[in-house]
Amino acid sequence: MIRKAVFPVAGLGTRMLPATKAMPKEMLPVVDKPIIQYAFEEARAAGIEHFIFVTGRAKSSIEDHFDHAYELNDTLELKGKAAELGSVTDWLPKPGELSYTRQQKPLGLGHAVWCARELVGDEPFAVLLVDELLQSDPPCLKEMVDVHQQTGGNVVSVMEVPQDHTNRYGILDIGADDGRMVEARGMVEKPSPSQAPSRLALIGRYVLLPKVFQHLDKQETGAGGEIQLTDAMEKMLGTTPFHGLRFQGQRYDCGSRLGYLEAIVANAMERPELQAGMTSILKRYL
Ligand code: UTP
Repeated sequence: MIRKAVFPVAGLGTRMLPATKAMPKEMLPVVDKPIIQYAFEEARAAGIEHFIFVTGRAKSSIEDHFDHAYELNDTLELKGKAAELGSVTDWLPKPGELSYTRQQKPLGLGHAVWCARELVGDEPFAVLLVDELLQSDPPCLKEMVDVHQQTGGNVVSVMEVPQDHTNRYGILDIGADDGRMVEARGMVEKPSPSQAPSRLALIGRYVLLPKVFQHLDKQETGAGGEIQLTDAMEKMLGTTPFHGLRFQGQRYDCGSRLGYLEAIVANAMERPELQAGMTSILKRYL
């Protein structure tokens, strides 16, 4: 069973400045729900019972979002706004299901995950990069958890990207490939297009064995001078099963401006109450 999920949300979000100067990018709304809530709901649908947020400075609105807002709740109740009240309370985690820890300096994704080591303990766990908004049925993480139950090893979600985009991602070197699941033989963080071992990119969902912390303990820096999760995962190859699972669904990179805008348009078009209005707005600009 994968019971715990880590959400590293301590990054600076420089690509979305100035919006992210005082507000975490994870709280930017996609239609009317903050990006982080989509990932939280995906994790819950995968059976996750404990949610660990690795936060940083200026991230307190995340804690508020996952807490009860008594004044707001009381006011909505008094006014008989049942639907609105449900929208802020129905999905809330139960007391004790959430933990927070702080990454004091943004030293890289690997370092952020390492900050959660005491909260995770000695059991396999999931990591979700919130700004990768993944929508599919069944949800991405649920399928990865199922694969982990078959293999007992590490699982990452992957997607083919254009050759000239490999330097934006961790890229897999692959062995056996059945079209859906690939055996990971190697992995490299942000390789140049000419040096990329494949076009299969890691897209922000991981199921990892706790052994990864032993490698992260060494605090070695990699690409961009950051402590990279990819480097620590690479060290587990060959000793434990390690698979990539091709993601089949919609992926929006909400850490970039265009990806974020696409997520809003796509999700608005899925909402029956917004579809017609959104269509006529889009037509005006085409
Ligand atoms: P990104 O590469 O998107 O970095 O991190 P970022 O700082 O969030 O955004 P930009 O590139 O400056 O615009 C991927 C994920 O890893 C987390 C981020 O919060 C994001 O979810 N992260 C990254 C940390 O938690 N700590 C870090 O030191 C780095």
